[in-house]
Amino acid sequence: MNGVILYQSKYGAAKKYADWLSEELDFPCVETKKARISELISFDTVILGGGIYASGITGLSFLKKNIDSLKGKKIAVFCCGASPYDEDAFKEIVKHNMKDGLEDIPVFYCRGSWNMEKMSITDRTLCNMLRKAVSKKDPSEYEIWEKALMAVGDDKCDWTDKEYLKPLVEFINK
Ligand SMILES: Cc1cc2nc3c(=O)[nH]c(=O)nc-3n(C[C@H](O)[C@H](O)[C@H](O)COP(=O)(O)O)c2cc1C
Repeated sequence: MNGVILYQSKYGAAKKYADWLSEELDFPCVETKKARISELISFDTVILGGGIYASGITGLSFLKKNIDSLKGKKIAVFCCGASPYDEDAFKEIVKHNMKDGLEDIPVFYCRGSWNMEKMSITDRTLCNMLRKAVSKKDPSEYEIWEKALMAVGDDKCDWTDKEYLKPLVEFINK
């Protein structure tokens, strides 16, 4: 079996998981932005991973655009967010992202990292605005991601853990 890992990562979490997967499965890693569909045709397995931004999985548009050319291959998606895993919230993420021909592709969650200092000014401003808006809500009404955002504050956190990859590796080796 041969395969390839495509990843899009702004602050390094999805890249870290892609590198771990690469070590574990012996598949090469390619940044999704640099991937060419013509170069993927020879692989049996394609794994695509990306960070979650405002509930969207980055890089997924590549899969949407090329899903017909990838027919017959084993495909899996992983995504990294700052939220702790929550079944209902994850189902929502999957429903929101896996449309337009992607419905049958399995998706795996790997918790990422958080570092306000490393963020671009735009992202930091967005997060601060969101925090301000969320702080007006009753904490019992926070969404999972909002709860995580409020809890983490300005702290640096790294929740990346190889353990998160176990179900994905199992699926690939099945
Ligand atoms: C502007 C912004 C929006 C985000 N939106 C979400 C979100 O909707 N859900 C979530 O769980 N995490 C969210 N995050 C946290 C990132 O998904 C998390 O930091 C992840 O590790 C990023 O992966 P990457 O470093 O590979 O890009 C957001 C972060 C930023 C900066």
